[in-house]
Amino acid sequence: MKKLIIINGPNLNLLGKREPNIYGSLTFNEFFETVKEKYPQVNLEHFQSNVEGEIIDKLQETGFSYDGIILNAAAYTHTSVGIGDAVKAIETPVVEVHISNTFDREEFRHKSYISPNAKGVILGFGLQSYELAIQSFL
Ligand code: DQA
Repeated sequence: MKKLIIINGPNLNLLGKREPNIYGSLTFNEFFETVKEKYPQVNLEHFQSNVEGEIIDKLQETGFSYDGIILNAAAYTHTSVGIGDAVKAIETPVVEVHISNTFDREEFRHKSYISPNAKGVILGFGLQSYELAIQSFL
């Protein structure tokens, strides 16, 4: 059974409440339960943190044994050399995901410290971006 983890960064715990015009009105847990039912052949975990170092710790912890990491580092995508370095340091392939089309937004969201070391990038498909990332590992 494939072991995958979705790692979500800051403010993604507010999905459903946060700027629903951009991020939708579903909570992440509601979405996660549906996806787990849809892919029973996958051992799928979820971790969320608002703290940069905790995201790095989780990448290190899972990055040598899991089959895939789906990472939405949220705002840290655009700022964190540390998370970018962690993605480079680990062995497990990382697919970078964003709910919104970051290239259709402010200029500062066009830069990603993760993309250069990601296996691939999926963005702009709403929560479906996560599902497309899961499919990429199957
Ligand atoms: C995001 C895009 C980021 O620019 C933003 O800071 C987020 C969410 C997305 O999923 O669309 O918090 O990663």
